[in-house]
This record gives sequence, structure tokens and C-alpha cells, in this order.
Amino acid sequence: MRILILGSGGREHTFAWKIKKSSSCSALFVAPGNAGTAEIGTNLEADVNNFPAIKKIVKENAIDLVLVGPEAPLVNGIVDYFEQDPELKQVVIIGPNKVSAQLEGSKAFAKAFMVKNDIPTASYETFTKETLSKGKAYLAEHALPIVLKADGLAAGKGVLICEDYATADEEFDKMLNGKFGDASQKVVVEQFLSGIEFSVFVITDGKNYQILPVAKDYKRIGEGDTGPNTGGMGSISPVRFVDHELMTKVEKRIIQPTIAGLNKEGYAYKGFIFFGLINVKGDPYVIEYNCRMGDPETQVVLPRLQNDLVELLVATDQGGLDRVKIEVSDEAASTVILVSGGYPGPYEKGKAIYGIEAISDSLLFHAGTRISNGEIVTNGGRVIAVTSRARNYEDALNVSYKNAELIRFDGKYFRTDIGFDL
Ligand code: AMP
Ligand code: GLY
Repeated sequence: MRILILGSGGREHTFAWKIKKSSSCSALFVAPGNAGTAEIGTNLEADVNNFPAIKKIVKENAIDLVLVGPEAPLVNGIVDYFEQDPELKQVVIIGPNKVSAQLEGSKAFAKAFMVKNDIPTASYETFTKETLSKGKAYLAEHALPIVLKADGLAAGKGVLICEDYATADEEFDKMLNGKFGDASQKVVVEQFLSGIEFSVFVITDGKNYQILPVAKDYKRIGEGDTGPNTGGMGSISPVRFVDHELMTKVEKRIIQPTIAGLNKEGYAYKGFIFFGLINVKGDPYVIEYNCRMGDPETQVVLPRLQNDLVELLVATDQGGLDRVKIEVSDEAASTVILVSGGYPGPYEKGKAIYGIEAISDSLLFHAGTRISNGEIVTNGGRVIAVTSRARNYEDALNVSYKNAELIRFDGKYFRTDIGFDL
């Protein structure tokens, strides 16, 4: 099969690395990709949200299967676009359609879905400008801290945790007055849940599902999980506290009712579901759904997955996931993300990256990199994920940290405490 991956991050480089191992893959393309994907496939210039441009490269390169990495094209309806175009009908596209992708694209939609299907989540109400005064009364009665969420996609910045009423009131106003543009025309006001977060991934063909290895990511920029949120500074898999008992609760209380609920609504969800969960005294609650794989979780989940990913994707398309058995390596995996100085605030790009070729005992998944005059240079906030595998995640981390030192670029920063809280 001729396969196209959409996206340019560490998740997409990891998809490319895994797909390249499959004997079913005859040619691999990534659009737009990065310096890492250029080494194992062909990078194609295209904006993932420009569907006619994607169609053009699909036709020009006789693509058989498209795997969509990031959420934006899914939420914007790329799957519906493919299904409705007679010239693209025979191309397999992996990802949920527009209505199903609202599980990530609209927090109000996701919360209503969970309540309807009795899926444990924080209590909440949704407000708009029209219901502003009702919202303020709700805030005044709410226990602290108060979680405010922009309804739509806000580049990971749309969630505010307010420690006092004055801040909550002020931020609520700002959000409804366009703080996050259209994304905060609706605001979800939510109960704060206290516990440890973890990430569960499922691949579903709409009816059947398979559970992938569990992971935990580290979202904040600073040591001890402090400072602003980032796209993710590191991850580990497996996660020790997510034992058989907790996973059984996750499957019964969350995964099964989610799949059943999607079916009941007739949403025909095909692709990955990422359950962002929190363990509240032994009981799992949903913090959020994502309609794609996680980044940087993919960088530890796929290196542990022993199945042929292309076979899994084809089974997803054909409704055959009941016949698949997921095989997971006993080895643990850890990843440490090297970021540009200043990230998640402003940072400089174009810094030469040294030391990559000397590393043989870690997998280096590129994120913000590109090739400039034959040299690999930085091209984003998150630059490279250093993934290692070993008998436990601590040993894997030691290898990642040794190699994180060996890769050099101006302004490099990484957290040195990934996994230490467990
Ligand atoms: P989200 O964009 O929904 O993933 O939210 C970003 C982060 O905010 C989550 O990863 C949590 O750390 C935190 N968060 C979101 N909702 C809640 C909640 N109800 N209680 C506690 N923390 C939350
Ligand atoms: N690691 C969190 C995310 O991919 O959204």
C-alpha cells in the first residue's frame, strides 16, 4: 500500500517509523513532515487543513491509505470530504468523521455525550453570552478551584483553573468576549477533580475496539509539573498505578459506554480515541476525549506495540478489529522531549542540531525540525523526543537522559523529572 501520514510532529514521525516496518507498506509519504520523516519517507508540502491540496497529493502519488495525525483536519471534516468525493472514495482514510470528532472539537458536546451515556466525568454547566448572568450565579455557588474550558479547539490553551472567585468571574467574562476567538463562544464551567492523570488509547472500527498500551504524559514546562502547559514534555508506558483493577473499571465504565454511545447515535467512529483520564481515589473519570493519538504518548505507545500497524489500520477500516489480538512488549518505554528555549512562549527557530548521528540506543522522533542547507535545524517548540526501551521505565529514562545531554542545540531545555512522581 502507498501510505500518506498527515502532520509534522513527533507523533507523525513515530507513525512513520512504525508503518515503515510493515511489509504492507510499499511507499511512505508524510505531509508536511519534518527532518526525521524525510529520512524514512517522502515529505510533501501541504497544509493539513487545505483539503483540495491534500486531494491533489493523494491523486498525484496514488495514495491508498491516509492516516490523519492531528485533530484540526478531523474536526474540520477531512474524513467527510474524502467520503463525499467520488475521486477519493476508494482511498482509505483513518480517523473519525466530523460529527464524531466533536468529542474533541467541542467540550460541550463531549460533556453532554458523557452525561447521556453515564460516563464518569466532572459535573458541569455550559454557558454562552446569552446566559452570562446565569453563568455568574453558577460560578458564585461553585466550589473552588473552578475549571473554565473554552468549548472549541484552542491550541491546548483553552482550560483555566481558577483558585478564587474574582479570577473565575473575570476570566469567564474574557472567554465569552472572545479571549479564544470562536472557541470560547461557549464556556464549560466544571468541577475540579483531584488525582493523577493518565492516557488510555483505543482503536475502533465503530463496533469493535482494541486497547493500546497505557501511558502518562507530563504537560507542564517546569520541574515538579509547574509553570505553563505545553504540548507535552515527556511520557512513560506502562504506568504502574494503572493496574488491572483500575483498567477494568476504565473499560467497563468508560470505554464500553463510549463505543456503545457512539453507536447509538449512529456516528460511525473509525480511528483512535484518546481518553484523558484522572484517577480519583481508585475511580477513573474522563477529563477529556481526543479524536487522535497523543503526543508525546505515541512515542512510547507504538514502540511497545508489536502488531503490524498497517494491518491494524486496515482492520479498522474494514470493521475487523474483533479478529485482531493486540501484542504488547514486556519492555517499558520512556520519552524525554527536548524543547527550544522560551517554549511554550516565544522561541527562536533555525538552530543547528548536533549529536544526532552518535546515538544508537534511543529512538529519536523528530517534532520541530527541518533540513536547511543539508543540516538539521530546529523548527518548532518541541524539537526531538528521545525514546528508550528497557525492562522498566526508570532504566529507559536513564538512557533517554544520557542521550538528551548528547544532543546539542542553542537554547535546548528538557525536564529532568519525568516519571519521578510515581
Ligand atoms: P484539557 O485541555 O481538557 O486536557 O485540560 C488541560 C489540563 O487541565 C488537563 O490535562 C488537566 O490537567 C487540567 N484539567 C482539566 N479539567 C480538569 C478538571 N475537571 N479537574 C482538574 N484538572 C483539570
Ligand atoms: N499529550 C496530550 C495530547 O496529545 O493532547
